[in-house]
Amino acid sequence: MEGVDELKKQNDDVLPQQNRDVEDDDPLVLSSQALAALQEFIADQNKTVTTTTPPPSTLAGEDKVELVTEDWRLSQFWYEPETAETVAEEVFTLSSRFSGCRVACIACPTLYVYLKKKDPSLNVQLLEYDMRFERYGSEFTFYDYNEPEDLPPHLKHCFHIIVADPPYLSKECLERVTQTVSFLATPVDSLLLLLTGDVQRGRAGEMLGVRPCVFKPHHSSKLGNEFRLFLSYDPGTRLGGLEEEEDS
Ligand SMILES: C[S@@+](CC[C@H](N)C(=O)[O-])C[C@H]1O[C@@H](n2cnc3c(N)ncnc32)[C@H](O)[C@@H]1O
Repeated sequence: MEGVDELKKQNDDVLPQQNRDVEDDDPLVLSSQALAALQEFIADQNKTVTTTTPPPSTLAGEDKVELVTEDWRLSQFWYEPETAETVAEEVFTLSSRFSGCRVACIACPTLYVYLKKKDPSLNVQLLEYDMRFERYGSEFTFYDYNEPEDLPPHLKHCFHIIVADPPYLSKECLERVTQTVSFLATPVDSLLLLLTGDVQRGRAGEMLGVRPCVFKPHHSSKLGNEFRLFLSYDPGTRLGGLEEEEDS
């Protein structure tokens, strides 16, 4: 809030000039209402919301999970608690297949929080564009899908499980995230979970070899697009199994 205080001070310094004729090159001055709104907005962006998960039987300890508020300008739509819990449980189950399992969460910060809640010792790396998640220290890596391989070299080919939730439903975005998945994945036996709109079904199959399962992800803010969870492996009966392929 230091920046806001400084802005307010500068603004207060300039306010007495408001009554003189305004020249084109005058400094920009915020009204006191605009300043108050700006302060409220910044405070809102930095606060966390607490959400209650479904029955805590599968969670260790308390059933409260802290999330930062959604920033819709960054296409942020957090999962419903039941969705986050279900996907986290699946990743947790898969992790037992690998010794020294490493999990990458591409643009799905809620899942990161639920995974760490489930097992704080699980090795999870969050790749995210929103710098608010820097709060997770060395487990946060800045990631912009426009630069899909602009990542630290030590992350190359070392993740056994990758979960991705691309910010946009475009072909271009999925292509770039596909490049990132290839960069991160272990060469042989990695598993991919992709959460995205049903409209990406055909492309996701072609680019990443994934198929939708029966379980459907839901978001806390109701979205117009139907979302699906696509998998690169057969989950058996978990997640309702893979969806039957339609005869063409
Ligand atoms: C559809 S949301 C997925 C969030 C997920 N549903 C969750 O609850 O964790 C897309 C994510 O992409 C991130 N994002 C926005 N712009 C991005 C960019 N240029 N590169 C990478 N990620 C970006 C957002 O911060 C957001 O977390």
